[in-house]
Amino acid sequence: MATPEDTGSWLLYLSLAAKCGGDGQPHRFVGFLVVCAVAGLLTCLLHWSFPGGPAWGRWWWTRRRGCWAAAASVPGPRGLPVIGSMWLMTGLAHRKLAAAAGRLGARRLMAFSLGETPAVVAGHPDVAREILHSPAFTDRPVKESAYGLLFHRAIGFAPHGGYWRALRRVASTHLFSPWQVAASAPQRAVIARQMVTAMKQLQQSGASSAAGAAVRRVLRRASLHNVMWSVFGRRYELQLDPVKESDETRELGALVDEGYDLLGLLNWADHLPWLARFDLQGTRARCSRPVPRVTRFVGRIIDEHRSAPPAAAAAVDFTDVLLSLQGSDKLADSDMVAVLWEMVFRGTDTVAVLIEWVLARLVLHQDVQARVHDELNRVVGLDRVVTESDSASLVYLHAVIKEVLRLHPPGPLLSWARLATSDIHVDGFLVPAGTIAMVNMWAITHDPDVWPEPMEFRPERFLDDTSFQVMGSDLRLAPFGSGRRSCPGKSLAMATVAFWLPTPLHEFTLLPSPDPARGVNLSEVLRLSCEMAVPLAVTAQARRVA
Ligand code: HEM
Repeated sequence: MATPEDTGSWLLYLSLAAKCGGDGQPHRFVGFLVVCAVAGLLTCLLHWSFPGGPAWGRWWWTRRRGCWAAAASVPGPRGLPVIGSMWLMTGLAHRKLAAAAGRLGARRLMAFSLGETPAVVAGHPDVAREILHSPAFTDRPVKESAYGLLFHRAIGFAPHGGYWRALRRVASTHLFSPWQVAASAPQRAVIARQMVTAMKQLQQSGASSAAGAAVRRVLRRASLHNVMWSVFGRRYELQLDPVKESDETRELGALVDEGYDLLGLLNWADHLPWLARFDLQGTRARCSRPVPRVTRFVGRIIDEHRSAPPAAAAAVDFTDVLLSLQGSDKLADSDMVAVLWEMVFRGTDTVAVLIEWVLARLVLHQDVQARVHDELNRVVGLDRVVTESDSASLVYLHAVIKEVLRLHPPGPLLSWARLATSDIHVDGFLVPAGTIAMVNMWAITHDPDVWPEPMEFRPERFLDDTSFQVMGSDLRLAPFGSGRRSCPGKSLAMATVAFWLPTPLHEFTLLPSPDPARGVNLSEVLRLSCEMAVPLAVTAQARRVA
């Protein structure tokens, strides 16, 4: 957006150009165009010449003109004129950003430009804390796709304020409180048994070639069913055969996938507003397709809840809770759709992605899996199934989960960035309002100055300090973020992972696929979460007679 200072510079250029162009003669008009073009080019180069690239230069040469020499600027790549370093946010952005920061000696804090948007990325725990805990960074930049998919009315993208606070309070009390997490344990147990049955069927059918895709499918469907149960009160059987799956699961699964693709996409128009009208990447068009389906789907469930007799206390789901809100907390139907849809969306893939990484590491490191099995034998014994209350005693397994969160954080850039709502100092540098701030959690967890031998998979490092928390108090490993906008679903997510992992591990020894071409491949793909690029393929050998 043009600032008054920009306008001032352009008035100067135009008056110069007008002097060249005045009396309608063709050569004068050409002169006018040349002066305009040269002025535009000079402005671009001037802005681009600044550390961090054009968005930073624009800010320094306009808003901070006169006092810019007094303060140091955040180091960072210039990128290209106009677009800055957009490509840093494509592909495996966490790795590209870490490499650029390393090259430029900007590991703690690096500036770069996403088109017209200034951005910073922190790669040190202290700087990460400054950002995540600062009241100036409690908003999020709302992308076009987030608006398009209704998320600006849900917790994740709602501006920090009364509406957001009310939503967080309701969700914390009725979905994520320790009491609620404990109360939903029987539901997780039902789904955990379904997962084991599905994996047995998979092995018996000898579908080894399809096994890889099926592990991922079992995990994703289990997560989706779990969240649909909590949020909508819907219960489904886990079906390996897509044809036998319920229409609702299939529909919602497809909507979640589409939402993931759209939100994970770098939309150039978010940072180059003059591109917005063209919708070159088709973001607006793509968003407009799932939204009516989401509205219809969730709206139907809301209507069914309205017309049903009041649920017994133990059977109350999150839709019932939202419908029961009164007074200033009461939500419009459209907001209710956004909030419910976000919960399903956020709760589905994150948990499945993390479990798939843990299983991959256990297949790859058979010695670690053997230690997990020893612990299960000791704590649970081979004559019964794992229960959720066993989970707290599985100290080594918890160390494995933490080590996987360290090596493969599901949100390496903490998924959703923060937005500076006022000018603010970070690590001694002035960062302007409107800057997008990210934390490169992946860079922190792979930094040899923070974690000795960071590339090694060594769960034992967490056995020395079993009280190490991954919930956001220690920024050396904070996969759920930190501060006011940290993940509200973290306790539920950890309870689910810490119970769903030992359940199949108690039943099976997981071995690599017999097909050498389908060995464990740790390549990543970054969508909204960082997933395994090649789905995990395993052979499961029974270790317990049921
Ligand atoms: C392994 C599982 C999960 C991981 C790694 C994860 C990670 C994250 C991260 C990094 C953030 C941003 C935090 C920040 O800005 O400081 C976040 C936000 C959020 N997460 Fe999670 N999450 C997980 C599971 C869940 C689940 C199960 C739910 C709900 C069912 C959930 C709901 C949310 C919501 C609503 C936000 C936005 C919070 C706000 O802006 O106020 N997450 N999550």
